[in-house]
Order: sequence, then structure tokens, then C-alpha cells
Amino acid sequence: MKIAAFIGSANKNGNTAKTVKQILAGAESKGATSEIFYLCDYLIKPCTGCRYCEKKDVCKITDDDVHILHKAIRENDAFILGTPTYYGDITGQFKQFVDRCYPFCKPIKHDGEKMTFGSILPAGKPGIFVAISGSHGPEVFDSHIKVAGHCFNDLNVEHWRNILVPYTTWTPVSPEHPIMEEAFNTGVELVETFGDKSDSK
Ligand SMILES: Cc1cc2nc3c(=O)[nH]c(=O)nc-3n(C[C@H](O)[C@H](O)[C@H](O)COP(=O)(O)O)c2cc1C
Repeated sequence: MKIAAFIGSANKNGNTAKTVKQILAGAESKGATSEIFYLCDYLIKPCTGCRYCEKKDVCKITDDDVHILHKAIRENDAFILGTPTYYGDITGQFKQFVDRCYPFCKPIKHDGEKMTFGSILPAGKPGIFVAISGSHGPEVFDSHIKVAGHCFNDLNVEHWRNILVPYTTWTPVSPEHPIMEEAFNTGVELVETFGDKSDSK
């Protein structure tokens, strides 16, 4: 199983990165390989809302780095999305990335005004969402989970697990943090649950 992790924090040794790395350590202990994409390392221009991708399935913006991230989405078997909380919500860099996943989304019109949204990608790949807060409690993650769910839907990814870590201002993520065991075990379980399916492709 090949796992791609997309991290919406510029802090490569921060709470989000440490938690994501621990999930990956668990997955790698079961034979998975992984690559981390720190979104701050990529030029991600804002979506212009031109809707070109609704007809062509590709983004009209080609002079930034999003094609690298899209390639990773096409080529990996499982995904981790991770973001800290900034101003009560996901970070700007994370949202910018989510908005640019729209080319994978396939809007399906229904009667009247109701719309549902599918994906042009094959189904059956799993996704884990990681969210971190400083002083806010776990209720702050509701909007984060909603956006991550929309993104996974665009990618046709099963939103399999959330790893939510509140209150890191007082209890930063460290090897002793209780989330470390859960994160590692989640990585192990990811490969045990979905590994065969991806290996057989
Ligand atoms: C600009 C900024 C805004 C933040 N806003 C919030 C917030 O609204 N609520 C909260 O709980 N933590 C907030 N935090 C704290 C971060 O969520 C916390 O430090 C987190 O661990 C950062 O993740 P990282 O270590 O992976 O970079 C904020 C931090 C920054 C830098």
C-alpha cells in the first residue's frame, strides 16, 4: 500500500506532522510506503471558480505546483489529510488545497435545485483525517471534518477515520502523548484492512 499524506501546517515538526508521522510509522510497520506532502512547499494558486474542470476534468491553472499533488492523488492507494486549527477552522493552505481538488469532483445534477457530487476517480481507497487544536476543545473540529469529508468525496475516498487532537497548547504531541498509540494502531489497522485490496491492483 502506498500512502500520501497532505499536511496543511508549515511546521514540519509540529503537532500535525508528528501525529501524521506516527500513523505512517504504524502503516510502514506492516509494509506500507509513504510520502508526505507539506502543502507549504508547493505553490497552490487559489481556485478562480472558472468551472473549466466541470467540463474538462482538469484544472485550467497550469502554472503552479498543483499538478504534482494531483499526480500523488492519482497514484496512491490511501490518503491522510492533516490540518491544525487556525482561527477556529482549518488553515488557509489546507483550504486552498481542498478547493483545487475540484477537478476530481463530478457534479451530478438532480431534479430541481438539488445537486449531488461524485468523483471521476475510482472508488474504494481509504482516507484518514487528522485535526489539531491549541486551546479549543474537540467541538471546534466539526467544520474541519465537514471540509475533509467534501475533499474525500471529490477523491472518491472512503472517509475511514478521524484522529482529533485538541488542547495541544497544554499537552503538545510528544512520544508520551496518548494519541501516539491510537495513531500508530490506526496506521497498522489501515494496512490490515485495506492493504490486500491495494496490493492486488
Ligand atoms: C495563526 C494561528 C491561529 C490559531 N488559531 C487557533 C484557534 O483558533 N484555536 C485553537 O485551538 N488553536 C489555534 N492555534 C493553535 C494551533 O492550532 C496549534 O498550535 C497547533 O498545534 C498548530 O499545529 P502544528 O503544530 O502542526 O503547526 C492557532 C495557531 C496559529 C499559528
